[in-house]
Amino acid sequence: MIQNIKGTKDILPSEVRAWQRLEDVVRNTTRLYNYEEIRTPVLESSELFSRSAGEGSDVVSKEMYSFPDRSGDMLCLRPELTASVARAVLQYNLIRAFPTLRLWYNGPCFRYERPQLGRQRQFHQFGAECIGSAKPEADAEVIAMAYDIIKACGVSTFSLEINSLGSSDSRSRFREALVSYFSAHRDKLSEDSRRRLEINPLRILDSKDESDKSLLVNAPSLEEYLDQESQNHFSELSSMLSACSIPFTVNRSLVRGLDYYTDTVFEFKTTQLGAQDAIGGGGRYNNLFEQLSGPQIPGVGFGIGIERLILLSKSEADSVSSLSVCLVYDPQFNAQAIALSHSLRKSNIDCRVDVQRRSFKAQMKDADKFGARLVLILGENEIKSNSIIIKDMSTGNQEAVSFDDNLNNLIVKHLDTLLNK
Ligand code: HAM
Repeated sequence: MIQNIKGTKDILPSEVRAWQRLEDVVRNTTRLYNYEEIRTPVLESSELFSRSAGEGSDVVSKEMYSFPDRSGDMLCLRPELTASVARAVLQYNLIRAFPTLRLWYNGPCFRYERPQLGRQRQFHQFGAECIGSAKPEADAEVIAMAYDIIKACGVSTFSLEINSLGSSDSRSRFREALVSYFSAHRDKLSEDSRRRLEINPLRILDSKDESDKSLLVNAPSLEEYLDQESQNHFSELSSMLSACSIPFTVNRSLVRGLDYYTDTVFEFKTTQLGAQDAIGGGGRYNNLFEQLSGPQIPGVGFGIGIERLILLSKSEADSVSSLSVCLVYDPQFNAQAIALSHSLRKSNIDCRVDVQRRSFKAQMKDADKFGARLVLILGENEIKSNSIIIKDMSTGNQEAVSFDDNLNNLIVKHLDTLLNK
């Protein structure tokens, strides 16, 4: 039997409701913040990510699904969406129409990582980007939106860590200091960090290796290298988050894995998913558009992994029914039943009806199984008296009503009362 590819997952009907609920939260929250949706292709040129996330990042050097297509162009399955959004903004000159461009997205991303709980090769991300402002107000806005979404998904055990990487200038001075410090202790560094020393020394700061960690105690600190402007930006952002009552801690070792960040970086963390402690993260990218041959446009945004958020909100009751009506009928009156179900749907009433000519008993079982709020019963007696029985499944009460033009209105009224109980 052909099976799905390792690291990918089918989202089965039993799981889809949780996804839809989360997508509703995302749609609703982004609307409250007045962000507009953008949808970009899954296929992009590999160069887009080597120039943005960076040749030396794990995402590009180890994890990207990159391949020549039939005409020899190097393409990839996008590993993230920030660079794709930036490409589209430049390509369609979107910033000209909207000096502060607020966009959100939701879609699959691909990274060749070792699959484990909360880590897949095809995973899904939603996120938002606020493009065009270099001010901390924009950082506060996207962090608040991410925070609101995680909360609205019913997740309460998470923390927010923030840090500042400073401007490119201060970062390159810090980088030099780091290289000189770690080069003197090269033999004590883990193999991974020796490699990082060559290509991305800042990543050594968030190494999980014990020997690396002991070296970090006396390593130069990023904070000492921050210029005044970055320090002000960071303290203004901190005040704004506090004013919004969003709890956070400052983690001076937080550097994140993508090269485009400048100044603010942040991560929403959990202790509930084993090794995968990040629910989402993001930061500011004031040089990204220039890296992609565009003008200097500042931006800030976040991305959140849907699979991880769903794993965390799983304890939420999944069993809330969304079925309003189940029509249970004697198969000899199939034409009437099909016509009635059709008319209910035209009145915007969702309805499930048997299409296998099964017994009354089997149909009643379905009504239970799918959690119908109302059951409509159409048997021989009802047909004879031109009536139908409406049964309220929450109380078991039932009444016979006339099977006429007013039936749909009556059902809508019943459903309204049930929903407002
Ligand atoms: P990222 O930290 O690489 O940032 O990914 C964001 C989130 O995607 C992670 O926190 C995690 O929840 C999820 N994620 C990443 N890799 C996997 C995986 N293999 N399996 C499951 N979930 C995963 C970004 O991608 C940036 N574009 C975020 C951003 C937006 N920065 C600025 N704007």
